[in-house]
Amino acid sequence: MSAKIIDGKAFAATVREKVAGHVARLKEEHGLTPGLAVVLVGEDPASQVYVRSKGKATKEAGMLGVEYRLDVDAPQGELLRLIDDLNANPAIHGILVQLPLPSHIDADLVINAIDPAKDVDGFHISNVGLLGTGQKSMVPCTPLGCLMMLRDHHGSLSGMDAVVIGRSNIVGKPMAQLLLGESCTVTIAHSRTKDLPEVVRRADIVVAAVGRPGMVTGDWIKPGATVMDVGINRIDAPEKGEGKTRLVGDCDFDSCAEVAGAITPVPGGVGPMTIACLLANTVTACRRINGLAEPEGLTA
Ligand code: GUN
Repeated sequence: MSAKIIDGKAFAATVREKVAGHVARLKEEHGLTPGLAVVLVGEDPASQVYVRSKGKATKEAGMLGVEYRLDVDAPQGELLRLIDDLNANPAIHGILVQLPLPSHIDADLVINAIDPAKDVDGFHISNVGLLGTGQKSMVPCTPLGCLMMLRDHHGSLSGMDAVVIGRSNIVGKPMAQLLLGESCTVTIAHSRTKDLPEVVRRADIVVAAVGRPGMVTGDWIKPGATVMDVGINRIDAPEKGEGKTRLVGDCDFDSCAEVAGAITPVPGGVGPMTIACLLANTVTACRRINGLAEPEGLTA
C-alpha cells in the first residue's frame, strides 16, 4: 500500500474542538448558546442511530440539542407546524429534518419550509441557488467535510481534475459546486456515464458517492490521485461470524490504496466529518442570525 490514509476521525476531532471553542466564546462574549433541533419522523433504525449521535455531539460541543420524534404516520401538517415553531424559536439556530421521510410526506415541501438561515443541511432551494452562484450559503455537511479534508491535504485545488461519482442533491451536486468554486475542472459521473473507469482515470481527485460497495477499484485510479470515499454500505461479513456485518465504502480500499496518493477509509474517513460539519454549520447559523462575523475555519 502506498497511499496516505486521510484520518477523518482525527480531523473531525480538530473541527469539533474548534466548534467547542466558538461555542464557549459565543456564550462568554454574546450570551448566546447555539441550538440545533433534529426532527425524526418514524423509527427507521439507521436514522435513529444518526439522530442519536447528532444529539450527543451537539451536547459535547456545549450547544443546545433538541430532538423531536414524530410517529411514522404523523400528518404532513403536523411536521410543517413543528417547523414553523422552530423557525420562530430564537433559541434554535439550526433545524435538521432527518431523511428519508415516509412516502406520504413531500420532502421538498418540508425542506423548503425551513428558514434558509436555519437550514444547517444546506438543502433549502435558496441555499442550493446561493451555492450554485458562488454566494454565501449554508453548505451541505458531507461535501463541506470533504472539501475541508481536501484543502487540508492539498492546499490549493486550483486547476485539478475532479470526478464526482453520484449526482445526489445531498452529496454529488453540492460537492461538484464546491470543487468548481475551488477552480477544479469538474465532471459529474453517474450510473449512465459511458466508460466510467476511463472517466475516473482522468481524475486528480475522485469523490465516490454512489452507495455501491467496492465499485471503484484500483485500476480506475490515476497513480497519486486523492480518493474521497463517501459510501457507507453495510455488507454481510461471514468471516466475523454468522449474521455479522461490516461497513465498507464505494471504493475497494486495498486495491485503490495501492495506486492512490491519499485515500479516506470507511469507517473513519468522511463519515465523522459529516457530524463535525453539522456542528460547524450550527455555529455559522447562530453567528449569521445574530449579525456576527463568519466563524474562522468552519465555512466553505
Ligand atoms: N439522511 C442521510 N444523510 C442525511 C443528511 O445529511 N441530512 C439529513 N437531514 N438526512 C440525511
